[in-house]
Amino acid sequence: MLKNIDTIINKFTNSNRDNLIPILQEIQNTYGYLSEDSIVSVSKHFDLPTSKIYGIATFYDQFIFQPKGKYHILLCNGTSCHVSGSKKILKEIEKILKIKDGETTSDGIFSIQSVNCMGACSLSPVISVNGKFYSKVNLIEIKKIIKFYQTKEK
Ligand code: FES
Repeated sequence: MLKNIDTIINKFTNSNRDNLIPILQEIQNTYGYLSEDSIVSVSKHFDLPTSKIYGIATFYDQFIFQPKGKYHILLCNGTSCHVSGSKKILKEIEKILKIKDGETTSDGIFSIQSVNCMGACSLSPVISVNGKFYSKVNLIEIKKIIKFYQTKEK
């Protein structure tokens, strides 16, 4: 059974701001994302506005604010991948799936999240789908990769 958000928050006995990121991490590890309710609970705990909590959480690319899709695409936007055209790849993914970075398709099949260096710079640009890596991705390949997962759903 999933832990209640308050149970997670109350494990951290004081509202020292050093606990903010660990609390957000534990909520995301438990629920898979940071819901609006969880942000409200965290903001009450720290006596900070929700906008401040969002501001801090969005600074870290590890946090997502919607449930992940069945196929979660991570797109590296580190320096090497950026130079190798990761922005164009992201735009193509957004165009095909009709979602923006950080969003999940309405059918819950795909989600996309851009992240910092994924540790494979010599193979840039790099993406992963549910942990499976694809390297030196170009605009033709990204269409094929997405088509592959779309076909699995038919
Ligand atoms: S910058 Fe993309 S893998 Fe390092």
